[in-house]
Amino acid sequence: MQQRHLIFIASLFTVISTTQINYFEVTTSMPFPPDPVTIYDTLIMLSALVTDCPSPSCECFVKVNVTTYKDTYTVTFPSTTPNIGSATITDLEADTLYSFTITCIGADGNATRLLRTDYGRPSVPRNITVTLVSKRLRISWLPPAVPKGPIHNYKLTKDRETISDEIPNNESSYDMTKDYVYGKTNTFFFSACNINRKKDTVCSSPNEGKITPRSLIYSFHSSLNGWAFSDLLACS
Ligand SMILES: *[C@@H]1O[C@H](CO)[C@@H](O)[C@H](O)[C@H]1NC(C)=O
Ligand SMILES: *[C@@H]1O[C@H](CO)[C@@H](O)[C@H](O)[C@H]1NC(C)=O
Ligand SMILES: *[C@@H]1O[C@H](CO)[C@@H](O)[C@H](O)[C@H]1NC(C)=O
Ligand SMILES: *[C@@H]1O[C@H](CO)[C@@H](O)[C@H](O)[C@H]1NC(C)=O
Repeated sequence: MQQRHLIFIASLFTVISTTQINYFEVTTSMPFPPDPVTIYDTLIMLSALVTDCPSPSCECFVKVNVTTYKDTYTVTFPSTTPNIGSATITDLEADTLYSFTITCIGADGNATRLLRTDYGRPSVPRNITVTLVSKRLRISWLPPAVPKGPIHNYKLTKDRETISDEIPNNESSYDMTKDYVYGKTNTFFFSACNINRKKDTVCSSPNEGKITPRSLIYSFHSSLNGWAFSDLLACS
C-alpha cells in the first residue's frame, strides 16, 4: 500500500516537472530582410519553444528586469504551433540593456536573455542659437537632453534645402559657407540624428529645431550692437 502511494506521487511529480524551455530568443521575422531581428527602440519580440506542457496548453510569462519592474507579459501559443510561443515587450527605453526571464507553469527552471534595445529618435539639440560672425551665420547648440543613442550626426536645412547633413557629432557649432544676405528671412531647421542597427536614420523633429526669422533678427541685433529687443520678442 505504502509503496503504491510513493509510485503514484513519483509519477505525478514526473508529469508536472517535465515541462522544458528548449529555446528562448529574440524573434527573427523572415519577411523583413535584410535585418529580420525584431529589436526596435521601444519594442522587442521574443519567441520560446516549450515542450511537455501540462494540458490543456503551455502557459508561460516573461518578466522584464525582475527586480526592478513588475511588468509581466503573457506568452501566446497559437493553436497551429502549440509549442512555439511569442511575447511582444513594449514601452522599453531606447539604447537600454534589459533582462528578459521566461517562466513556465510546470517547468523547474527559467531562461534569461540580456538584450539591448535599438537607438531611437533623439530629442532636439538644446540651446540652438544663431549669431553673425564675420558676415556669416553661426549656428551653435548643445547635445540633445535625451539622445537615445550615440548621436551619429547633426543636420541643418534651410527651408527645404539641405545645407549639411554631415555635421559631426562632436561639433557644437556650424559656420555657413556663404555670407549672410541682409533682409533675407529664411527659416532654418536643425536636428540631431542616430543611425539605428537597421540602418535607418532617425532624426529629431525638424520643427522643434526651427530657427525662425524672429530669433535670427533678435540674435543679429544682439550680437551686432548688444541691444535686447524685448519689444520685438514680445510682439512676434
Ligand atoms: C536590467 O538588468 C540587467 C542585468 O541585471 C542590467 O544590466 C540592466 O542595467 C537592467 N536594465 C534596467 C533598465 O534596469
Ligand atoms: C529563475 O531561476 C532561478 C534559479 O533557478 C531563481 O533563483 C529565480 O528566482 C528564477 N527567476 C524567476 C523570475 O522565476
Ligand atoms: C541653455 O538654455 C537654458 C534655458 O534657456 C539656460 O538656462 C542654460 O544656461 C543654457 N545653457 C548654456 C550652456 O548656455
Ligand atoms: C571632431 O572629430 C574630428 C575627427 O575625429 C576632428 O577632426 C575634429 O577636430 C573634432 N572636432 C571637435 C570640435 O572636437
